[in-house]
Amino acid sequence: MKLFILISALAVFGVSWAEQLRYDNHTVYKVLIENENQLTIVKHLSTLPNGYNLWKPFHGVGSDAHIMVSPKMKSAFDSLMKLNDFGTEVLIENVQSLIDEESSSYKRDATFGWTSYHSLDTIYDWIDDIIAEYSNIVTPFVIGKSYEGREIRGIKISSKDGNPGIFIETNVHAREWITSATVTYFINQLLTSDRAELKNMRENIDWYIIPVYNVDGFVYSHEKDRMWRKSRQPVSGSNCMGADINRNFDSHWMENGGALSDPCAETFGGPKPFSEPEAQALADFVTNIQDKINIYLSFHSYGQYLLCPYGHSATELPTNYADLLEIGKAAADAISRPYGTKFTYGSTGSVLYVASGTSVDWMFNERNIKVGWTFEFRDKGRYGFVLPATHIKPNAEEAVEGVIALVEKSSALGYL
Ligand SMILES: *[C@@H]1O[C@H](CO)[C@@H](O)[C@H](O)[C@H]1NC(C)=O
Ligand SMILES: [Zn+2]
Repeated sequence: MKLFILISALAVFGVSWAEQLRYDNHTVYKVLIENENQLTIVKHLSTLPNGYNLWKPFHGVGSDAHIMVSPKMKSAFDSLMKLNDFGTEVLIENVQSLIDEESSSYKRDATFGWTSYHSLDTIYDWIDDIIAEYSNIVTPFVIGKSYEGREIRGIKISSKDGNPGIFIETNVHAREWITSATVTYFINQLLTSDRAELKNMRENIDWYIIPVYNVDGFVYSHEKDRMWRKSRQPVSGSNCMGADINRNFDSHWMENGGALSDPCAETFGGPKPFSEPEAQALADFVTNIQDKINIYLSFHSYGQYLLCPYGHSATELPTNYADLLEIGKAAADAISRPYGTKFTYGSTGSVLYVASGTSVDWMFNERNIKVGWTFEFRDKGRYGFVLPATHIKPNAEEAVEGVIALVEKSSALGYL
């Protein structure tokens, strides 16, 4: 009888929100892809819904993938690796232990700062404080609503009319928490610093910043599944949920394997371009102000890359690629100054992997914003997405240096 009641209760309430997915003994492996056979196998693994989760995508033979494997799948995974002569390396032995360390420093209602990660509510409260405190130059905007009905909020920082504009969009991938933590630090610096470079950027550039773009996924990553990446819109005909919003923009959508059509894949491009309301809302918002935007930035983690168009091809390059490389070099040099952290720069398709339907490429191709960069922040895989909160400040300091250099070089080359 007791058992019956328990089962009915579970059936009625489903899985409680208080109950978080655990990643005990989930291990992240670096897997080297050295031939076509291995590539086929890794492609297959990356779309399996249970037991495998792709952390760092790959771009063919000669690259490597980071794959999280559940304890249940470990022996099958080991045999598969051995049978096919894969070179592998353990990056993270037990993902749950990193999540536990992170949540011990996670203070839901803590005063805002950069020593722990914050929930969406706390970030939005902080934004309200900023809007009130700096009302002379900060105004709020909303680009639209997420699938689950949350407002996707942003702020505009503008000291005078007629400035060129820079758009920053952050945390489209839910589990990349370092990105919103970094952008709030950046906003704070931009508003409060007396440093000449930052004052100059505050006074002579209009900033449009969305600190948490994938709001549904972000909340879900806090409350239910720390490793969630995609949107939260169900996919008709599939048990897997959500699309990769950063593969859902209508620019070379789904071309060249730069997104997957399998709804269970982390890089599922959606059933059609702009199927995700979040992607459509951002596209519409930028379309309305496109003449005001000179530079478009998207913050991600991890891997330590600075990536410019194109994403959809490994070989095709934009006509202003020489300029973009100069800008990338300036930013990477500046990023390395505080702590020696090395970023690799270049086009997404040539230095990292083919990724089609990204926001940066859409802005570049369809909205004529000719300086577009994706930042892939710390680290190289030691902690991956579960970057300890002690990295927030140093990562953010590096990002500030990178953006300053990027702006100065873009200006020198005539883009601002
Ligand atoms: C994780 O692995 C260790 C060592 O094999 C084992 O003792 C422990 O019970 C495992 N934990 C869980 C929750 O499976
Ligand atoms: Zn990302």
